[in-house]
Amino acid sequence: MSESAEPEFELPRLYRHHAFACYTQRPPGHPRGSCGAAGAQPLWDRLGKAIETERLSDIGFTAAGCLGFCSAGPLMVVYPDGVWYRPTTAQDIDEIVEQHFKQGKRVDRLVMVLTR
Ligand code: FES
Repeated sequence: MSESAEPEFELPRLYRHHAFACYTQRPPGHPRGSCGAAGAQPLWDRLGKAIETERLSDIGFTAAGCLGFCSAGPLMVVYPDGVWYRPTTAQDIDEIVEQHFKQGKRVDRLVMVLTR
C-alpha cells in the first residue's frame, strides 16, 4: 500500500448529473401514500424522454424504488448535488431539465423541504 495521499486510480465519472426517480406505486388509500399514487409516472416518462430527445448523454436517469419520504412525492434526487425535487407538472420537469441538467443551476422552487 502506498503512503502517498494521492489516490492510486481515478474514479470514472460517468455522468455530470444522475437522477433517481421513485417509481413506487402503492394502492390508493395506502397510509404511506406513494409517488406513483401522486402521479409520478407521466412525469418520469417526460423526464426520460427529454433526456433522450435532447441527447443529454452526460445525464443519468435511473428508476428507483421508495426513497423514504413517500407523502412528499413525486420525488427524485439528483447527484452529485444531492438535490431532492418534488415536481408535480410537466412544466416542472422541463424546468429541471433546462435549468439543472443543462445549466447546472438548482431549481429552488421545486426542492423538497422537510418540515418537522
Ligand atoms: S413511494 Fe416514493 S419516496 Fe416512498
